[in-house]
Amino acid sequence: MKRFLLWGLAVLFLSGCGYREEQKNEKPPIVRAETLDTGTVLITVGFIQTGKESDWRDANTNDFLQTFTREKGYNLIYIDGNSDPERQVKAAYDLIAQNVDYIIIDPIVEDGWEDVFMEAKEKGIPVIVSDRQVNVNASHYACWVGSDFYKEGQNAAKWLEDYLEEKGREKEEIKIVLLEGTDGATATRGRTEGLYSVIDRHPNWKVVAKEFGNFTQGEGAQVMEGILNQKIAFDVVIAENDNMMFGAMNAMDQQGIVYGNGTDIITISFDALHEALAKVIKGELMVTVECNPLIAGLSEKAILDLEKGRRIEKVHFVQETVFTQENTVLHLMERKY
Ligand code: AHR
Repeated sequence: MKRFLLWGLAVLFLSGCGYREEQKNEKPPIVRAETLDTGTVLITVGFIQTGKESDWRDANTNDFLQTFTREKGYNLIYIDGNSDPERQVKAAYDLIAQNVDYIIIDPIVEDGWEDVFMEAKEKGIPVIVSDRQVNVNASHYACWVGSDFYKEGQNAAKWLEDYLEEKGREKEEIKIVLLEGTDGATATRGRTEGLYSVIDRHPNWKVVAKEFGNFTQGEGAQVMEGILNQKIAFDVVIAENDNMMFGAMNAMDQQGIVYGNGTDIITISFDALHEALAKVIKGELMVTVECNPLIAGLSEKAILDLEKGRRIEKVHFVQETVFTQENTVLHLMERKY
């Protein structure tokens, strides 16, 4: 779109080494369009990631690095948000100052984006929001691509509903421990709301503990350890991602608590990582609701359409599955993350 046709100027490439701290206060250089030997002008895409909080996130980052390659005509500027929302916003301003062609953002939280999105719009830089959403007027960005987090939460709770009915436990009091993701993140809000849309239909289901674990394994373990130390009785652990569930499992292992199929503790999580599918097959994890990290292709499609001057849809959902012992074996081999 706004590529400058100048040769030979160095381009700031932050890939791999992340967004270097010492550059935070420096004026970012203007990105000049680069061309391949074939004469193709590269499209410069700034990609601001949340950080490295989970294995899902690594898979999502790799998907972007493998999709937006030089061979395919892209100059990708990868920025690691380091789990810091302010750093992400600052990175967006820097990309605007560099006059990149497109900005893709995986936002940590929904709030705090309005001003920088307006600035990008004023400068004519299309912004694609990926994975989580933003609390910004939709006319200020090109489109959003990602998961239906509400549906994921609902699917998890519906699985629990069916399971309890199958076991003849639908009238029993069911005590639930809920490990939420990051406060203010769409993945947390959507999953929690989706879960409660079913939980609220069952007066005999009680959420006995609910804490944020920031989608990390370490915090999942820490939070679960705290709950166990308080001697809170529970029947179900729901973790809003697999890594927090792995942490919670470690905490339960430490205290000799058995969980999963054939035990008193029902285990439910989200993402469907390879390791989680393996645990589903073993019966340690009873269900993992897929959150598909391979969404860079949808962003690329949006960019290619915009390059051709086409109108694009505002919202693009990815396909997702619910994995239980019944349907997981076939997927384990092909799961790359
Ligand atoms: O926004 C998607 C969520 O973020 C994934 O469930 C989680 O693993 C990641 O860190």
